[in-house]
Amino acid sequence: MLVSAKDMLNKARDGKYAVGQFNINNLEWTKAILLTAQELKSPVILGVSEGAGKYMCGYKTVVGMVNGMIDSLGITVPVALHLDHGTFEGAKACINAGFSSIMFDGSHLPFEENFAKTTALVNTCDVLGLSLEAEVGAIGGEEDGVVGMGECADPEECKKIADLGVTMLAAGIGNIHGKYPENWPGLSFETLEAIKAKVGDMPLVLHGGTGIPDDQIKKAISLGVAKINVNTECQLVFQEATRKYIEAGKDLEGKGFDPRKLLAPGFEAIKAKVKEKMEIFGSVGKA
Ligand code: 13P
Repeated sequence: MLVSAKDMLNKARDGKYAVGQFNINNLEWTKAILLTAQELKSPVILGVSEGAGKYMCGYKTVVGMVNGMIDSLGITVPVALHLDHGTFEGAKACINAGFSSIMFDGSHLPFEENFAKTTALVNTCDVLGLSLEAEVGAIGGEEDGVVGMGECADPEECKKIADLGVTMLAAGIGNIHGKYPENWPGLSFETLEAIKAKVGDMPLVLHGGTGIPDDQIKKAISLGVAKINVNTECQLVFQEATRKYIEAGKDLEGKGFDPRKLLAPGFEAIKAKVKEKMEIFGSVGKA
């Protein structure tokens, strides 16, 4: 059964570790992440962007697939199915489809609008027992081939949104989605500390987990980060393993063209990457 992310994140905050949010794209991705979480006895959050939701034939298909897998794979660790960077409309659609956790990303809106829309969703999610993530200070990334450096959120705005009673808060601390540019100055721990001082117990979310050095990840956890999102890194290891398989001509040997064989190296690569991340985040054995 899917669960809200609230308990797992409060425990992570208290225990000074972080729960990984791994974004899913298809059946192989989902199965790899769920099996790894179960093997390592780790709680896990499956992230679904609106684009990935569309790609997987809509939110109801995703809910059906994840619930089916939890049942047929015998998954007993806590699993939250979470909308990643949702619009207000997307959030409502995922609530209706059966997601157990929602991110409403109003960080690009005027603050008053972000505040008003987050307020409305706090009430809905409270009634339904779903967890809600809000965002302050946009988390950049590659757009049209240009990689931005990542914003730092205003701690006062973070406090205003946290005080609405969201479950967790994503705040820009110089992090970005995708690969980090060579000259990236690193996370702004000064900003993280200032935000933490304002929001108190609120579990903080670190987006753009791909490529952040392990020591910075660990320091961020020590300063209140309880959820870390990883997407691109799983895509890169899947691509690399699939490329190797084809370049070695294995798809041309015997039944190497069978998708169950063709996609197996990428599947194993995701499992290994998720394991590595769960070990760094400290969530192993916490389920
Ligand atoms: P990366 O793709 O950089 O790992 O970021 C994932 C993320 O933050 C999803 O919200």
